[in-house]
Amino acid sequence: MNIAVFVSGNGSNLQAIINAVKSKKLKNCRVSLVVSDNGNAFALKRAQKAGIETFVLEPKKFKTRTDYDKVIAAELVKRKIQLVVLAGFMRLLSDYFVDMFNWRIMNIHPSILPSFKGTHAIKDAFLYGVKVTGVTVHFVDKELDHGPIILQKEVVIENGDTLKSLEEKVHKVEHKLYPKAIGLFIKNKLKVEDRVVLIKD
Ligand code: GRF
Repeated sequence: MNIAVFVSGNGSNLQAIINAVKSKKLKNCRVSLVVSDNGNAFALKRAQKAGIETFVLEPKKFKTRTDYDKVIAAELVKRKIQLVVLAGFMRLLSDYFVDMFNWRIMNIHPSILPSFKGTHAIKDAFLYGVKVTGVTVHFVDKELDHGPIILQKEVVIENGDTLKSLEEKVHKVEHKLYPKAIGLFIKNKLKVEDRVVLIKD
């Protein structure tokens, strides 16, 4: 299965996926393309180091989200991409793109959705004072941080935790949970019914 990973920044989740493929924890798949809206993303260096093709498209030149996404979609079709993995990609996808890859786009979010949607989920949870937060991997639908939930894993906030220590704990969980969810998809174990993801044995 050909996977495309979309990134905008550091790319630690991309790295976890690359490592899982390399160590054969993730089998029968290949990260065939890394897509970024940001030419300076460190994630691109990680991709290059792993010998993965990259495609950078700066959004500035495009009038609409759909125009931008059409160019990316064409690149994915060319490479027969079957799964799109959003790993810190800081752009909303157009309805056009979501329809085209229906239930074949995953996202990882650093909270237990539907709590703490948005770009500062770890900080928001920490400042809110919750005792438990965590990580969600979900399919992407047309609303932000909303689609059917594939896997969730909790992270406990303990006395003495700082925002930094919490971030570290959350990222550590992300790096295990994402390859696991991708593995379930590759084995064809995920079925979406309404907004519930059934995981077949
Ligand atoms: C992660 O916390 C992910 O949950 C969120 O963006 C962050 C990306 O981190 N969507 P990285 O670029 O994979 O290191």
